[in-house]
Amino acid sequence: MKLIEVNNLTFSYDKKVNVIDGVSFCVESGKYISIIGHNGSGKSTFAKLLIGLLEANAGEIKAFGLEMNSKNVHEIRRKIGIVFQNPDNQFVGTTVRDDIAFGLENRCVPTEQMEGIIEEFSRKVHMENFLDKEPENLSGGQKQRVAIAGVLALAPEVIIFDEATSMLDPRGKREVRESIEEMRKENPNLSILAITHDLEEAFASDEIIVLKEGKVIASGAPEKLLEKPEIFDNTGLDLPFKNKFLKELEQQGIKVNATDSIERIVEELCR
Ligand SMILES: Nc1ncnc2c1ncn2[C@@H]1O[C@H](COP(=O)(O)OP(=O)(O)OP(=O)(O)O)[C@@H](O)[C@H]1O
Ligand SMILES: [Mg+2]
Repeated sequence: MKLIEVNNLTFSYDKKVNVIDGVSFCVESGKYISIIGHNGSGKSTFAKLLIGLLEANAGEIKAFGLEMNSKNVHEIRRKIGIVFQNPDNQFVGTTVRDDIAFGLENRCVPTEQMEGIIEEFSRKVHMENFLDKEPENLSGGQKQRVAIAGVLALAPEVIIFDEATSMLDPRGKREVRESIEEMRKENPNLSILAITHDLEEAFASDEIIVLKEGKVIASGAPEKLLEKPEIFDNTGLDLPFKNKFLKELEQQGIKVNATDSIERIVEELCR
């Protein structure tokens, strides 16, 4: 089922240069999609258009059967959670607990259920011991975790992560990825749209969309995009180690089973 459909979307900040230039794409229920591309390629702008923070100059967005317009934007936003690139601008509460509670209060969640939900989701991101702390005093990575908990607690149908794990260390990234995987298992209809500079992360998704100067220059399953690895040269991103390794072996005319783990391939090569 298509949750969000975008058709020929065009947007410009200055009415001169199109930052988003004729983008079409769709988010299906339960899909995990990554958006990659150079700095300034339009990824964050695209995310802001999807939640109606910016208004397109041309084209259309249809979400949950509703046309994106000033009348429907609030209804649409109830079903889309977003974690922004910069966690500093998204806190409203004086404590972490208040902050997570704020979103729940807006949804009229009964007070007696609230504490349990806050506990559950702060635990998922390992912030349960920080509930009485002031958000300003947290580290960048901790702020991102709180923002993620706040969004997850609202049980949206689609979650947009705009480089939401960029400030986390490798372990933090892995933990957030694991909790997302867990949520997807619990709720197979949850769709994820992850803007990322981490190709390793993008390769874990069902579909990758490559943006360049506001245009989609490639899209499809990660394995399919790898058939033309030069696509990734356009993103300024590094292929995951395994893919670089396989590419190198191929260039040297060495045949291995690409679906094996690196350890297994190395073992085979050492024989
Ligand atoms: N508020 C704004 N006003 C004017 N121009 C903007 C504004 N925000 C972004 N831009 C410009 O629009 C283009 C796309 O920016 P955007 O933030 O969407 O890129 P991005 O792909 O998210 O980049 P990054 O990887 O650095 O986060 C850039 O050229 C940027 O300078
Ligand atoms: Mg951005």
